[in-house]
Amino acid sequence: MRQPLVLNDVAALRRQLARWRNARETVALVPTMGALHEGHVSLARIGKSRAARTMASIFVNPTQFAPNEDFSAYPRTFEADLDKLAAVGVDAVFAPTRDIMYPPGFATTITLEGPAKAGLEDRFRPTHFSGVATIVAKLLIQAMPDLAIFGEKDFQQLAVIRQLAADLDLPVEIQGGPTVREADGLAMSSRNIYLSPEERSIAPLLHRVLNEAASAIAAGEKAHDILAYGRQRIEQGGFMIDYLEWRDSVTLGEATRARASRLLVAARLGRTRLIDNLAVPAGEGA
Ligand code: PAF
Repeated sequence: MRQPLVLNDVAALRRQLARWRNARETVALVPTMGALHEGHVSLARIGKSRAARTMASIFVNPTQFAPNEDFSAYPRTFEADLDKLAAVGVDAVFAPTRDIMYPPGFATTITLEGPAKAGLEDRFRPTHFSGVATIVAKLLIQAMPDLAIFGEKDFQQLAVIRQLAADLDLPVEIQGGPTVREADGLAMSSRNIYLSPEERSIAPLLHRVLNEAASAIAAGEKAHDILAYGRQRIEQGGFMIDYLEWRDSVTLGEATRARASRLLVAARLGRTRLIDNLAVPAGEGA
């Protein structure tokens, strides 16, 4: 099992990319914040299946965390991450320091509208997506991959990044990778390790509620009532709910049964905030 090449600065990254480009090899990039789990590994596998070379980035991006969030506590497991990436044959890992990505005097931030202002995550994490968009724009410009892969688990993030790439004419295909779940339905997340054993046993309720609500909406039941019932079940299960919403899959605006749509949820269980989402199957008359 060959360990991926570790590249720590932009010059080394670009030298490696130039070698691949000279050999006419296509490149897939999987941006991550490390603490890798099977969800990330599945994104790397998509890269491997679609491009000659796959690179992951590992950078815990400070600008997407609010001061009250878990930036310093965020799990950092670099050696274990490398082993997981080696096992799927990832060729290189870009692992810059904070000073490489945000040198002293850094003064540029991306401002967003559209899906970034859908009233979902942005309502609870108002500075989050501008931090995500800034770092993702930097990574895409630094690496100029043919393809970049992001998990559908962060569905609003994926919509924001698609919009960013289109608006800035970044010559990269943005591909979503399906959410990977534990056997009981809980969406894999680097933050699941914060859950106590009792919270861990409650956590799959989110996916159950999404499943049932998606089927009920597809069957033509009144979305307003289904969502109210779903919110109530989540709260009764022991969560503090931030939102449960039914939205258009592309714009994240109001959903209709005529277009692809998605249920999205965020709720807090103790000190852990969980998010999840699910496609609503095309319903009767759709
Ligand atoms: O989804 C993530 O892990 C992060 O938000 C990303 C896309 C790597 C940007 O820091």
